Amino acid sequence: MARIPLIAGNWKMYLTVAEAVELGRAVAASSKGLKDREVMIAPSFTALAAVIEAVAGSPVKVAAQNVAWEKEGAYTGEISPVMLQDVGASMAILGHSERRHIFGEDNAMVNQRLLGALKFDLTPVLCVGETLEEREQGATFKVVEEQLSQGIKGVGSDRISRVVVAYEPVWAIGTGKTAGKEQAQEVHAFIRKVLAGLYEKKLADEIRILYGGSVKPENVDSLMAQPDIDGALVGGAALQSESFDRIIHYL
Ligand code: 13P
Repeated sequence: MARIPLIAGNWKMYLTVAEAVELGRAVAASSKGLKDREVMIAPSFTALAAVIEAVAGSPVKVAAQNVAWEKEGAYTGEISPVMLQDVGASMAILGHSERRHIFGEDNAMVNQRLLGALKFDLTPVLCVGETLEEREQGATFKVVEEQLSQGIKGVGSDRISRVVVAYEPVWAIGTGKTAGKEQAQEVHAFIRKVLAGLYEKKLADEIRILYGGSVKPENVDSLMAQPDIDGALVGGAALQSESFDRIIHYL
């Protein structure tokens, strides 16, 4: 089965509701008529409802930037998968390096979030990636394998192809330093090999693996030409409609 590429914008903690709606409308216009790729945007929680309304009728999918695992409960500051469903979101980013490194989320928590997303029919985008220190110590594959295998723990063969993986080397996020295309491809192929070991090759071949970390109009074409890069998770360049438009229309 051919993997449908996914171009995703992570808006992080940026934009007012009015700004998010304006950008959402521009992304919807950019995505009109696209058949061979999917587009996703992840606004802040406060802008989700308004952005979902703004892109209604377009193929753009709207994601949350995180999700809790219970339907409801005493979890101050968290948003449940049912609340996301209620507002019309269809996907959720989990395990982003900013959640792991600034807010201390560990693999076990990321796993709970992922299982919560799947249980309530949200498509999870599981982020994995090594720090600069880990790369320099030669620990890239070990870290990525741990984050991946622990993140998807408990997900059976019947649901694994719904998961999207995003490889985001921490040293490439917001730094302007992209992983070279061969460097990224090497880790993507490794991720697919780990998945093939945990499930089966046929299923591993269906799973989309996005690259994230300083994706720009200038480098998207060469990244997307790699055989195991199935999309991009874009931060800074997703906040401007012109640059995200060019990224969506990668060659
Ligand atoms: P940048 O594209 O700004 O490097 O951010 C990447 C990212 O963290 C997307 O989730």
